Amino acid sequence: VAGSPLTVLIGFMGAGKTTLARELAAARGVAHADSDRLVEERLGRPIAEVFDTDGEAAFRAAEEAVVLELLAGGGDRVVSLGGGAVLSERVRSALAGHVVAHVDVALETAWERARRSSRPLARDRDAFEALYSARRSLYEQIATAFLPAADRRVGARADAALRALEAAPAGTRMAWAHAASSEYPIFVGRGVLGMRAPGLPPSSRAIVVTDTTVAEHHLGALAEPAGLVEIPPGEEHKTLATAERVWHALVAQGVTRADHLVALGGGVVGDLAGFAAACFQRGIPVVQAPTTVVAQVDSAYGGKTGVDLPEAKNYVGAYHQPAAVLADTTTLATLPPEEHAAGYAEVVKTALIAGGALWERIAAGAPVDDDVILACARTKLAVVAADERDGGRRQVLNLGHTIGHALETTLGYGTLRHGEAVGLGLLAALRLSGQSDLRGQVEALLRDAGLPTALPGVDADAVIGATRLDKKRTSEARTPFVLVRAPGDVVEGQDVADDDVALAVRELGR
Ligand SMILES: NC(=O)c1ccc[n+]([C@@H]2O[C@H](COP(=O)([O-])OP(=O)(O)OC[C@H]3O[C@@H](n4cnc5c(N)ncnc54)[C@H](O)[C@@H]3O)[C@@H](O)[C@H]2O)c1
Repeated sequence: VAGSPLTVLIGFMGAGKTTLARELAAARGVAHADSDRLVEERLGRPIAEVFDTDGEAAFRAAEEAVVLELLAGGGDRVVSLGGGAVLSERVRSALAGHVVAHVDVALETAWERARRSSRPLARDRDAFEALYSARRSLYEQIATAFLPAADRRVGARADAALRALEAAPAGTRMAWAHAASSEYPIFVGRGVLGMRAPGLPPSSRAIVVTDTTVAEHHLGALAEPAGLVEIPPGEEHKTLATAERVWHALVAQGVTRADHLVALGGGVVGDLAGFAAACFQRGIPVVQAPTTVVAQVDSAYGGKTGVDLPEAKNYVGAYHQPAAVLADTTTLATLPPEEHAAGYAEVVKTALIAGGALWERIAAGAPVDDDVILACARTKLAVVAADERDGGRRQVLNLGHTIGHALETTLGYGTLRHGEAVGLGLLAALRLSGQSDLRGQVEALLRDAGLPTALPGVDADAVIGATRLDKKRTSEARTPFVLVRAPGDVVEGQDVADDDVALAVRELGR
């Protein structure tokens, strides 16, 4: 890369790349270049005309030449590329080292927009759909940043995060989380714990909340923490009493609303520190720095925070979206195998929700690498974007959790790992879904990962009693379940007969 890396926006036609790039360039006070416009200037004719008279190949040749010049030129500017520019292998290799942001647009939106502007490739719906899926997987492979096609200013608002990505350790990828009440960047990569989360004022002090086990392994990787609060590890400490201890420690360290917490650890630390941040002085920012598979694929994102009551899990809490998430995958090297396995249950859950490429990968036995972690995180972010406060769609994320949580409560916190309980809960949910084959397939995946697939002697009645305390239940009616029709087709709010729940739980006891 000659000079400084460029920020390059890629994505399907109709994603709004040109507008987003223009707004981002304006926010930075730098130039914007759009490959389609440059090709038109060079050929002296509109693209549609070039397609019709000279054919697509002629257009692609001109496009490749223009884009290669742009990328080699360097300089501080923002570039938007035509949807097909990345089909060229030479363009793809020239993109290495630049910040390449995929502006992700839904098929329907893309179709409407592209048709309205009479794009040459948007004349036939079936061909358009096929092109959309083929290109989308290409964009996903090349991109280092992922922006939702939310509105024209989203690129400009993500500016600090895109800049931080330029300076991040090699191989780091960033996704922009966009929900009703807040937006924030998530960084997934090796060594990202050393980053300072973008978007917080330089004067904001970082106060680390972590558990004693994680502190021993990973505290040193953080960039200059200004304060530290350590809690004992384990689900049994995810309580109001521990939160209160954290609050007292924050007061003792003179923490103010101008400071922020860094939750360094697994889901227990993330939930508890997030909750402590949500309530301390009525709310201070929290940066989530997840160090377990559970936390990196799931719990660090989406802003649910809280503590357990003896009666039921996660019963007291608050929505408090993180200011940023730093998922450093090198931290997983010190994670004990049983904790890796527990995280795998959340991966399988997420893959069932996502369907498509992620499910195919997991079903084929893929290991949990950085790609899988990022894909899971983005699946969760997409669900949360549609329903931040659990009014409907977000409930799909609780697949396997109704019975999973009930098992945890019934057996006593810390007896089963959260992920282990979720794995068992998934098996019960698949039975309730009438998905025998899929249940068998998931059972094999869980077993190969070293997870329990049965719980001999479980007190089914007690578990069923505990499901009645599920937070999704809002009346005297039965607790609604999340069921699976097929991978990628998961539905919330399903009514299930008590007898069927009893059978599904008893099956685990055999
Ligand atoms: N908020 C959400 O959306 C959400 C989603 C899923 C789960 N959760 C919650 O997350 C919790 C489970 O999270 P978890 O499985 O990460 O448990 P955890 O935080 O208890 O971590 C598991 C164990 O691993 C240790 N550990 C953590 N990172 C380590 C590392 N890098 N190396 C060595 N040891 C390490 C911890 O000290 C702990 O003993 C549950 O309380 C669950 O309710 C919340």
